[in-house]
Amino acid sequence: MSDTPELTRRPEWAALEDHRAEGQPVLRELFAADPARAERYVVRVGDLYIDYSKHLITDETLALLRELAAATDVFGLRDAMFRGEKINITERRAVLHTALRAPRDAVVEVDGENVVPQVHAVLDKMADFAGRVRSGEWTGHTGRRIRNVVNIGIGGSDLGPAMAYEALRAFTARELTFRFVSNVDGADLHEATRDLDPAETLFIVASKTFTTIETITNATSARTWLLDGLGGDEKAVARHFVALSTNAGKVTEFGIDPDNMFEFWDWVGGRYSYDSAIGLSLMIAIGPDRFREMLDGFHLVDEHFRTAPAEANAPLLLGLLGVWYGNFHDAQSHAVLPYSHYLSKFTAYLQQLDMESNGKSVDREGRPVQWQTGPVVWGTPGTNGQHAYYQLIHQGTKLIPADFIGFAEPVAELSGELKAQHDLLMANFFAQTQALAFGKTADEARAEGVAEEQVAHRTFKGNHPTTTVLARELTPSVLGQLIALYEHKVFVQGAIWNIDSFDQWGVELGKVLAKRIEPALTEGAEVPGLDPSTTALVSTYRTLRK
Ligand code: F6P
Repeated sequence: MSDTPELTRRPEWAALEDHRAEGQPVLRELFAADPARAERYVVRVGDLYIDYSKHLITDETLALLRELAAATDVFGLRDAMFRGEKINITERRAVLHTALRAPRDAVVEVDGENVVPQVHAVLDKMADFAGRVRSGEWTGHTGRRIRNVVNIGIGGSDLGPAMAYEALRAFTARELTFRFVSNVDGADLHEATRDLDPAETLFIVASKTFTTIETITNATSARTWLLDGLGGDEKAVARHFVALSTNAGKVTEFGIDPDNMFEFWDWVGGRYSYDSAIGLSLMIAIGPDRFREMLDGFHLVDEHFRTAPAEANAPLLLGLLGVWYGNFHDAQSHAVLPYSHYLSKFTAYLQQLDMESNGKSVDREGRPVQWQTGPVVWGTPGTNGQHAYYQLIHQGTKLIPADFIGFAEPVAELSGELKAQHDLLMANFFAQTQALAFGKTADEARAEGVAEEQVAHRTFKGNHPTTTVLARELTPSVLGQLIALYEHKVFVQGAIWNIDSFDQWGVELGKVLAKRIEPALTEGAEVPGLDPSTTALVSTYRTLRK
């Protein structure tokens, strides 16, 4: 039996429950009583200005939450992670995405070996290759330069580079076309390739394991498309396919030259991998120098998380706020609402980071947890969400804490009227967090002339908690800072909940079952032990199919 006390039996947990039972703080009152709150409840990390004043907390709440973090030894686990200890217990692996952005002279050991030289050797190899594609020196099989790059991967081997490519579009080589294919629905690859010339197309097959059925299926179809387009010469594969993987054997088996493989390691989790070789498509897009700037941004926040005291530690703080709402207010979800068109895939990326990490229901000792773990993470860029689901956040019955992320400057490419639109975008950004926090009372509605029968409908209770993250501009470094901030926030929450944030066994079951069902669809084969509902659905599918 483990001697780790159950989370909810800790005195620090009980103290938070008692504190919560004292009643809900009211933001209007908190700001009235402490006009300096807006300055006090701010943490600055690198280029990020993080305002957490609009949260349902007092100094006492924060102190109690920090006591919970101390009791659950969040910083102890953090240090073990940075030291390369095997804190992914179910897979017996180190968790060292922080080593991917460590400076060249750093020392990070796994099983007694310093991994930093390997990391930089791969980064250098990526930089060399990216430079050759960008300059046109790397040509396709027929001697034509590469103009299209198609990344084939799924989950962490897709979401990271796809998100970051969108985020940093303004920094990309505009003369190159980038596409990201993940879905095993043939439509995805079809749409990505239908207007491309195979002679000018490079496929990057991104798969940590190189066994993921979606990716291998799409990569096989892509090879057929390429060979069909180039007259069937197998030698073409070497000029048009590269692999990003930990599995050299499977890469070779697929037919990709191991020289064209960019390696990473089992201590890099899929959802933490886009700053490894998995970022090759991004590096080709933005260039090696910008990629390094991004890594430096990650590293800056790693160092902050590693060294900042609890009171000023941004990931700790954001993690604790999530615990406060999820465990003591029954909040089920968390919205992430970026006010940047370029961050259109940011929340989808965070969904994997957060939900695959902390969607767990047994603790590190294998005992069922008696407390809520990871939230449902959702959201889309503002202001679009304002005209869709914000109504529910403002006046619905659910408590939905939200992060608002915005920038003082639009990207440098925008000029004239398009640049001027940025202030309107940001006016919406500030207006929303204001309205969510302070609402509108019935008297205020009446004073505006609202008819009495409408007052209840046009009253906003406010007190909806938000974090505001503001930076000057969305640069590669700022993107790295933002992602590292969320990575470590997720880490903090997993540490408090005493779960393994680094495995994903839940995903495996679906993979196994899909493999069993496929022959029933293609050949009508009987699947032993298939439940009656699925059997009926499979048979209907076969009847409906042409
Ligand atoms: O979705 C489950 C998962 O295992 C993710 O963790 C991973 O990012 C994804 O599959 C892809 O795996 P691979 O890179 O091995 O193809």
